[in-house]
Amino acid sequence: MIEPCTFVTFGATGNLSRNKLLPALYHLEQAGRLPEKMAVVGIGRRDWDDEAWRREVEQDLASRARGGLDPEVFQRFRQRLRFFRGDLSDADMYRQLHDHLEQDPALPDNIAFYMAIKPADFAAVSNHLAEVGLNQETNGWRRLVIEKPFGYDLESAEILNERLHRHYGEHQLYRIDHYLGKGTIQNVLVFRFANLMLEPLWNRNYIDHIQIIHSESRGIESRAGYYDTAGALRDMIQSHLLQMLTLVAMEPPANLDAESLRDEKVKVLRSIRPIPQSAVHAHAFRGQYARGVVNGEKVNGYLDEPGVAENSTTETFCALRLFIDNWRWRNVPFYLRTGKRLARDNSLISIRFKHPPQQLFRETPIDRIEPNWLLMNIQPNECLRMELQVKEPGLELRAQTQRLDASTCRVGQYDLDAYEALLLDVIDGDSSLFLRYDEVSWAWKVVDPILKVWSMERDYIHTYPAGTWGPQEANRLFVRDDQNWRNTLDDED
Ligand code: BG6
Repeated sequence: MIEPCTFVTFGATGNLSRNKLLPALYHLEQAGRLPEKMAVVGIGRRDWDDEAWRREVEQDLASRARGGLDPEVFQRFRQRLRFFRGDLSDADMYRQLHDHLEQDPALPDNIAFYMAIKPADFAAVSNHLAEVGLNQETNGWRRLVIEKPFGYDLESAEILNERLHRHYGEHQLYRIDHYLGKGTIQNVLVFRFANLMLEPLWNRNYIDHIQIIHSESRGIESRAGYYDTAGALRDMIQSHLLQMLTLVAMEPPANLDAESLRDEKVKVLRSIRPIPQSAVHAHAFRGQYARGVVNGEKVNGYLDEPGVAENSTTETFCALRLFIDNWRWRNVPFYLRTGKRLARDNSLISIRFKHPPQQLFRETPIDRIEPNWLLMNIQPNECLRMELQVKEPGLELRAQTQRLDASTCRVGQYDLDAYEALLLDVIDGDSSLFLRYDEVSWAWKVVDPILKVWSMERDYIHTYPAGTWGPQEANRLFVRDDQNWRNTLDDED
């Protein structure tokens, strides 16, 4: 049974809260998963009372609730909502918040604080909470939920971590990487460790290479302030794509508890072959979108986006080649690629197997056999697919690729948002799908040398027309000519 708690959201009127957190909580309400007495306290600067906030939330949910807002569900949900007016930089506000949380009998003792605010404010807000004793677990638990970016590089991540740890134990910190809440990502573990037949093949003897890609057709929208100082390597690869890589590459954990799982993920990150600064160009490629056409519409180049610095060399596209130096994976390339304003929205893990050792069909019309692929599509459709070679019907001995789909490949089949699973875990105290600090730190160690070199090379960046699959030159990362990007499940592009 999940204990009741008070879920306090800093930044309640911001985008993350409105677009992700509140809809996720509402959907959990709809699914009957929220503990009975749980309360949701939104903190913001607006001059609102509970009723005004409830009206705003209702309006937002009208367009975001799956299948439309259900009045009965909302009636239950709205009773949980409380608004607390306050300014994050005002030390007095935290004292008042403390008293409010202590004194209102409708607010359960356990408290989760969700930081839906600028990362630069994480340390200060958590410090203020501690000053008024809201970090102390004397009556009920206290959990702090923060979302990437965790720092800007290794050094700043360490400083942030040190500041958080002054007042909070690691068990109180929930670092969200929302990719870990996505259905297919969790399926990677089930698929790998609940099936016997894959395990003997899941290694350097049978796998040629692995690709992990995330492409988006949208640009940076109104996020130049953040994005222009971050770039694709920090924004997507340091967190989401490296997390996916750990799940694909890890050894089976001793059990499914949070520490065992995270121990195995850390081992993978620690085994990634460090990229010396002198080899950055051989292992990493960056690009930036120029104007082009996306879904039939002309769109701006990155430099024309509002808020982007005039001569910015921030990458909106990034590809890496990594190696994991352990028994299982030595010399198997892992290619990671991500970009904004690419041809399609898609996230895909592709595992390409080696060719069979004997060329048995050389003298037949089957002159070239396609290798086997195992594809795990994360979004927009969730799908597991295996590509095998079979004989074409007819008199000749010809081969064709057949696809075995282990799912129905429907878009949003279960329609669960990643945040739903993660928020439930926060209130349930299960930190398996949250990042431990050593994961964050080892992931920074992987990308830090690249960031350093790129930050010194500010006079040139390759460009690609918006709406394409990125610069051709990124293909130079492949170690062999027969390796190519697998852009989508069907790869018809
Ligand atoms: C975020 C990045 O973490 O993930 C965004 O900051 C990116 O730039 C987003 O667009 C992608 O997440 P999703 O769930 O939309 O694929």
